[in-house]
Amino acid sequence: MTARRGNILITALVLLLTSVVWHRLSPVAFAQHPPAPVPPSLKTISVPLPSNLDEFVKNRAFAVVLGKALFWDMDVGSDRQACASCHFHAGADDRVKNQFNPGFPITADMSFGDAFGRTGSGAQAGPNYTAVAGDFPLHRLSNPEDRQSFVLYDSDDRFSSQGTFAGAFVSNPSLFVFGIDACGSADPATDPFRVNGFLVGDVFVRKVEPRNTPTMINAAFNFRNFWDGRANNIFNGVNPFGLRDQQARVWLENADGSVTPVQVALENASLASQAVGPPLSDFEMSCSGRTFSNLGRKMLPRRALASQAVHPQDSVLGPYRPLLLPTGLNYTYSQLVQNAFQDRYWSASQLVDGTFTQMEANFSMFWGLSIMLYEATLVSDETPFDKFRGDFVTPPNPAALTAQQQLGLDLFMTKGNCIACHKGPEFSSAATHLQAENQEEGLVERMVMRDGGIALYDNGFYNLGVRPSANDPGVGGRDPFGNPLSFTEQYLDMLRGRDVPDRFQIDACKFASPFTVDFPLSSLTSPDCHGVPFNPADIDGLRTAVRGTFKVPSLRNAALTGPYFHNGGQATLGQVVAFYNRGGDRTDVPGGDTSGVPSNVHPDINVLALTRAEQLALVAFLESLTDPRVQCEQAPFDHPELLVPNGHPFNQYTVVADPTTLNTKAVDSFMTIPPVGRDGLPGILQPCLGTFADRLGLSQSSGVTGS
Ligand code: HEC
Ligand code: HEC
Repeated sequence: MTARRGNILITALVLLLTSVVWHRLSPVAFAQHPPAPVPPSLKTISVPLPSNLDEFVKNRAFAVVLGKALFWDMDVGSDRQACASCHFHAGADDRVKNQFNPGFPITADMSFGDAFGRTGSGAQAGPNYTAVAGDFPLHRLSNPEDRQSFVLYDSDDRFSSQGTFAGAFVSNPSLFVFGIDACGSADPATDPFRVNGFLVGDVFVRKVEPRNTPTMINAAFNFRNFWDGRANNIFNGVNPFGLRDQQARVWLENADGSVTPVQVALENASLASQAVGPPLSDFEMSCSGRTFSNLGRKMLPRRALASQAVHPQDSVLGPYRPLLLPTGLNYTYSQLVQNAFQDRYWSASQLVDGTFTQMEANFSMFWGLSIMLYEATLVSDETPFDKFRGDFVTPPNPAALTAQQQLGLDLFMTKGNCIACHKGPEFSSAATHLQAENQEEGLVERMVMRDGGIALYDNGFYNLGVRPSANDPGVGGRDPFGNPLSFTEQYLDMLRGRDVPDRFQIDACKFASPFTVDFPLSSLTSPDCHGVPFNPADIDGLRTAVRGTFKVPSLRNAALTGPYFHNGGQATLGQVVAFYNRGGDRTDVPGGDTSGVPSNVHPDINVLALTRAEQLALVAFLESLTDPRVQCEQAPFDHPELLVPNGHPFNQYTVVADPTTLNTKAVDSFMTIPPVGRDGLPGILQPCLGTFADRLGLSQSSGVTGS
């Protein structure tokens, strides 16, 4: 009795003291990290990979062959859509036709956006519209230097990538034709991606994703992937959700040829978690209701890349080309799996559930790990910036950056304060090695907000006020099981005594909160810090800066990966720099929108007052982060041939119905990306890649402001 009262007293005292201390601390006192140094070359760090990888992978080189073939193979999608169909231009997408999404819900708790309206250039927006320069930025101000000035145009539409046609999966195609699945038609009540078909009424067109497509080059360095981090750091072999899905199982062979379902967990495999999402997504690659086993059954007997040409000097696939056929490899996917993965995951004689072979049933695991290993080879560490910095073998070369770029680097580090978030050789504080290095506080940090309040947040995820949080909650969203995506929100749930799915390290004592939690959760009987008990009633008072926050993207190759931000709202680097220079696009209504919630916008997003010359220097510096091998598609960035869906003939008013789909779907336009070998585009006498700005007839620096 006495002891309990004593505890309560101490708690009250400590909470009082802490709140006084919290209150007194100025932002300066909270800046406990020393100023970040100029990032070193990317060559100084290596790609993080799971430590237990070899339990699954027998031959990593073959896994890369398998992963590269799967990533580029158009037979994977229900309707000729490959991963690469949206990641074909420096790992991103520079198409301009049929790329608008009307502001569609992303997670279950998301409100619907409005329908297509007018575009920024005054045109009738809608599916199959071709964007022009005047459509950007998606939030346009009468004075681009003043975020409070009159708003000329504002839209919650997103500029992204077209994926698949809607419709329910019926069956796999026969082995001898293209990989087009039999699928039903979309539902006109729920699918806004429709255009009037010539003489036949509405027909469906390819759906467009609700967030802009980031590059997968260097994505191997991200601790979590996707703008909202929902591709879990831990791969469960089946889907993107890691330990959040306790039912996920792969099938292990027993000595007698039977199979047993087992749970697997590979750490630092966020790319594998990511990769198993799109093949079944009915926005990206699949008719709805298709399973990974269906996909395995379709792909395993097929020859890899059966309908696509492979360049003889392809740095990975070249040696496996057939002598007598013009396309593909001389391996089926089944043979590649057998070469790449441990036998016990595919060689069982017993069927799984009496239906699928073990290899088909484990296809999601082969898919995720092989694509992860391919993407782990896509590291762009030969930029002018890397040469400028030098590495363990090459001395720094001061001439690698122009004087203007060096001024830009200086501004990046100082007046622009870009380094606060775009840290390390990855230029992103969401990078794995920074998360690990940052053991001081772990994956949850605290910051002083603009209004002086203190909030906890997910390290590496910030709200810049690009859009009101109500348009897209980002890391404030939830997974399909109802768990918060955010580590911060999970931390608060832990303090409330609930079980949370993710494993992560937080040392709250270090951030002077009265709470601490050590994993594993079983130890969570009485969390305390410095011997201080804690008061669960206080948790609800803790403020978080999670809603509307997004992963800090790497800036490497940014010159080639426009348009920018999670909504694709800025077309050029000049427009991005002007955005930062005016302190973002939020208006100073509390919450940055009309919700009345205190603003989550990061306090560093404030007027920078850069001159025009300084903004141009920042753009020039960002251009120094382009690896020429990425721009010219040289090894390891070479690739097979690909036909990319590029809208549908005609425009947003009229398309042509495809009679083979009983006039339910529009005829596609395809653009051909030619196969290149290790010498890239110069090797086939083609120019290296241009920018998204080029596609709109703009220069990369267009949009900078001031005099
Ligand atoms: C229809 C277009 C489309 C297709 C097809 C597609 N992606 Fe993406 N990809 C996107 C979009 C859009 C995002 C961002 C989604 C988000 O963050 O919510 C993304 C995100 C990613 C990321 C995360 C990068 C980061 O920095 O967070 C990786 C890696 C990636 N895709 C790889 C793949 C792979 C592998 C496949 C095939 C299995 C694939 N994509 C298929 C459009 C596509
Ligand atoms: C408070 C952290 C923070 C600071 C400071 C910051 N950034 Fe960012 N940056 C981000 C985040 C987060 C995003 C993604 C935001 C979104 O889409 O909502 C981003 C996106 C970008 C992008 C677009 C990349 C892409 O692929 O879409 C560029 C370019 C960029 N930042 C450059 C800069 C420059 C230049 C500066 C300095 C003037 C800077 N950033 C300062 C966090 C920051």
